[in-house]
Amino acid sequence: MILTFILILSIGAVLCDKPDYKDDIIDTPIFNVTNSEAKKPNPVPEDKHQTQPTKQPLPEYYNPPFDPENPSEPLFTKSGARLITINELSAHGSVNGTLRPIWLAVMGRVYDVEKRYDSHYGPKGGYNFFTGRDGSKAFVTGKFDDEGLTDDVSELTPIQLKDIEDWIHFYDKDYTYVGKLIGRYYDKTGNPTKELYKYQRNLAKAEEIKAEQQAQEKQFPPCNSRYTPAEGGLVYCSTNSGGIQRDWEGLPRRYFIPGTKDWCCACVNDKDLDNPHIKLYPGCAPNAPKCKVDKQKMREEL
Ligand code: HEM
Repeated sequence: MILTFILILSIGAVLCDKPDYKDDIIDTPIFNVTNSEAKKPNPVPEDKHQTQPTKQPLPEYYNPPFDPENPSEPLFTKSGARLITINELSAHGSVNGTLRPIWLAVMGRVYDVEKRYDSHYGPKGGYNFFTGRDGSKAFVTGKFDDEGLTDDVSELTPIQLKDIEDWIHFYDKDYTYVGKLIGRYYDKTGNPTKELYKYQRNLAKAEEIKAEQQAQEKQFPPCNSRYTPAEGGLVYCSTNSGGIQRDWEGLPRRYFIPGTKDWCCACVNDKDLDNPHIKLYPGCAPNAPKCKVDKQKMREEL
């Protein structure tokens, strides 16, 4: 089961390279949104048909009341893209909502996840908290409470945003896309907001960072490691350690990631032995093909 989960994530990683939302065309609405409607505060839930998520959406989003028993006409843009309000999405949640099919949103993109109602998204499913809302941030933080389940991803790093993008590609591939959520990432005409553009710019940064990391891994491939009670922890190199195929083995060194205090074991080619970011393992000879990992000595070094 865990492997399936890892597979899900890795499939996502393979699939996603650039943001490529064909529906993100600049569009005009075919419904009339008056200024007074747009500024209406969100309705306070009154009865058992409560459809509000616990955290109130910001008031400037177009979000008129939505009665699940008497749903209003669906909203579309001229080009036929479906627009969904926060209240409508909430009505399709399995925690507070009553409407089927069950929906969830990631970065303002709404998906129909009904097909895994029983296993994942319905009231008995382990991931029902994602439904009826846009909880994008929690897809990478794993913080599944009301505070964590937010669409505000401004505190995340570009690499974390890339992980969210992998989830988007996962849902694009495995589920039915419903439409755009009017809120943080799409305005009431269905056009991308500044925040969506910011997210997309940060994704481009993530690509650059990943490319740098890959280049760095080629130059300093990770070591092999093993532990036996007799020898303790050992690090050593081979021509494919760290999954990097090459025609040299290299010597094990501690490689300090530039700009951070973190380090990892890297196999270092002769030509890079004087690189300022690398350090010998304490107690290991400069030409030794294997080094003992003596945590105590390394702690003393700090
Ligand atoms: C950030 C943390 C995590 C997030 C955001 C997350 C999210 C999800 C989501 C959204 C699904 C449903 C995918 C679908 O629609 O098919 C899922 C499935 C699953 N997750 Fe997680 N998960 C997390 C951590 C974990 C961990 C730590 C484990 C295991 C210890 C795990 C095990 C599973 C399993 C077994 C499935 C079902 C896979 C299948 O049946 O296809 N998840 N996860």
